[in-house]
Amino acid sequence: MSRVALVTAKIVDEDIDLQPLLDAVRAEGIDVKSRCWDDDAVDWAGLDLAVLRSTWDYVDRYDEFLEWIDATAKVVTLLNPLDVLRWNMDKHYLRSLTDDHGIAVIPTQFFEPGTSASELEPMDGDIVVKPVRGASSVDALRHASIDDARRHLATLLDQGRAVMVQSYVSAIETYGETGMVYFAGELSHAFGKGPILTKAGASPVDGLYAPEAISPREPTVEQRDLADRVVHACAKDLLYARIDLVPSDDGQPVVSEVELTEPSFFVDHAPGAAARFAKAVAAKMST
Ligand SMILES: Nc1ncnc2c1ncn2[C@@H]1O[C@H](COP(=O)(O)OP(=O)(O)O)[C@@H](O)[C@H]1O
Ligand SMILES: [Mg+2]
Repeated sequence: MSRVALVTAKIVDEDIDLQPLLDAVRAEGIDVKSRCWDDDAVDWAGLDLAVLRSTWDYVDRYDEFLEWIDATAKVVTLLNPLDVLRWNMDKHYLRSLTDDHGIAVIPTQFFEPGTSASELEPMDGDIVVKPVRGASSVDALRHASIDDARRHLATLLDQGRAVMVQSYVSAIETYGETGMVYFAGELSHAFGKGPILTKAGASPVDGLYAPEAISPREPTVEQRDLADRVVHACAKDLLYARIDLVPSDDGQPVVSEVELTEPSFFVDHAPGAAARFAKAVAAKMST
């Protein structure tokens, strides 16, 4: 019997996808358990497959986690694949999606450590400042003034972090973000996510992550085309992918984030999704 781990973190007390995914993989006749990435007692080499699931403390332990994925990928098949994870854990990938693949993304300015926050020019509307290595909305803030945005930018740069700056996309208030979930390169389902940075200057994070309002959503043809193009651009052996889209000013979707590391799938909002994930895992076992 194949042995699979869905990989979480000790600090995570609520991964709503975990139990439905464990049940569905088990129903494929696979011996599957959840394991914490930082649990030294786990014999990773004794598994057939380790699938990242909810390693949500990795941003604060970035180098330690990188070492762990490097070491683990040497002894067991780790999915998504190591090079995909390394690419995806740094949101400079947004630039490569546009430059290398012509994919429309949220217009983003990148500031590298060592640059001055005074280089940030005023923008129309509110300004979002967030770390390039970030997740779960931690350290992401919306600002109503250029001075506040520059102060936040300076704080993150002083911490030696690269930073992204974007115009606040107000369509998020009405339409929300659209998450497009793929298993083995095929669209499984989509969901809508309500706005998170609802107040300028206020962090939305409560504990480990910001609360999220999720609802099922039927994607438009344009959303589907764009998300398909992103998945094909990533073109590696992806077990899972979540492509987050927002409407741009002209109403067309653009990519806000590509989640290939530890995305929530919200399978409870999508009948059959957990089973589709499980079939994708089972297919990896037989190849
Ligand atoms: N430019 C933006 N305009 C409006 N809201 C934003 C913008 N960037 C981020 N947000 C909000 O902040 C949340 C977290 O940002 P995101 O880029 O998804 O990073 P992560 O999920 O990795 O923390 C998003 O889900 C969205 O609600
Ligand atoms: Mg996000």
